[in-house]
Amino acid sequence: MGSSDVVIRRATPLDHDTLASLIAAAYATLDDERYDREALVAAMPLMSRPNPLLLACGTYFVAELDGEPAACGGWTREEPGTGKVKEGVAHIRHFAADPRFARRGAASALLRHCLSQAHAAQIERMMSQSTLPAEPFYAFAGFRRLKIVEAKMGEGVVLPVVLMERAIP
Ligand SMILES: CC(C)(COP(=O)(O)OP(=O)(O)OC[C@H]1O[C@@H](n2cnc3c(N)ncnc32)[C@H](O)[C@@H]1OP(=O)(O)O)[C@@H](O)C(=O)NCCC(=O)NCCS
Repeated sequence: MGSSDVVIRRATPLDHDTLASLIAAAYATLDDERYDREALVAAMPLMSRPNPLLLACGTYFVAELDGEPAACGGWTREEPGTGKVKEGVAHIRHFAADPRFARRGAASALLRHCLSQAHAAQIERMMSQSTLPAEPFYAFAGFRRLKIVEAKMGEGVVLPVVLMERAIP
C-alpha cells in the first residue's frame, strides 16, 4: 500500500484519548539497548502522552490509514523544551506511528505534509530532535545528523536524542 492511501487531517484537543493510546503504543517500541533502561522508564510518562499545546496549535496532524489513526505529528516554530523562536526555522514535533501500521508510509506522508506547510509559511530550515531508533526515518526524509544532545524529560531525567536538520528548498 502506498502513502497515497494516507488521509491527513488536523488534530484537535478532541483527539486526546485516541492519540494517547497511539503515542503510548508507539513509544513502547523504543526499548533500545542504546538507551539507559532506567532513564527510558523514567522518561516514558512525559514522552508518551499527547501534548495539549500541540493538539491545539493547528500544525499538529493525524494520518489515517483504512479510516483509522495510524500516525500523528506536526511542526511548530517554537524550539522543543525552550519555546525559543528563530526566524525561518521550525521544529518537527512528537511524531509517532501506531505499531499496527508501522512501515506503511503514514509517518513519512505526514512529514512531507509538515515540510510542505512549513515551506508555505516561509520556513527555510526544519529541525528535529529524533529518538535514537527514529534517526533512519528522518534520514529517509532528507534530514542529516548534527549532533547528539541531551533532552530533558522531566525532573532530573535526560535522554540522548539526535539533533537533525534539513533545508526546505
Ligand atoms: C519513527 C516512526 C514515527 C516511523 O513511523 P512509520 O509510519 O513506520 O514510518 P514510515 O513507514 O513512513 O517509514 C518511512 C521510511 O523511514 C525509514 N524507517 C522508518 N522506520 C524505520 C526503522 N525502525 N528502522 C529503519 N528505517 C526506518 C525507512 O526507510 C522507511 O521506508 P521503508 O519502510 O520503505 O523502508 C515510528 O517508528 C515510531 O512511532 N517510533 C517510535 C516513536 C518515535 O521514536 N518517534 C519519533 C520521535 S522523534
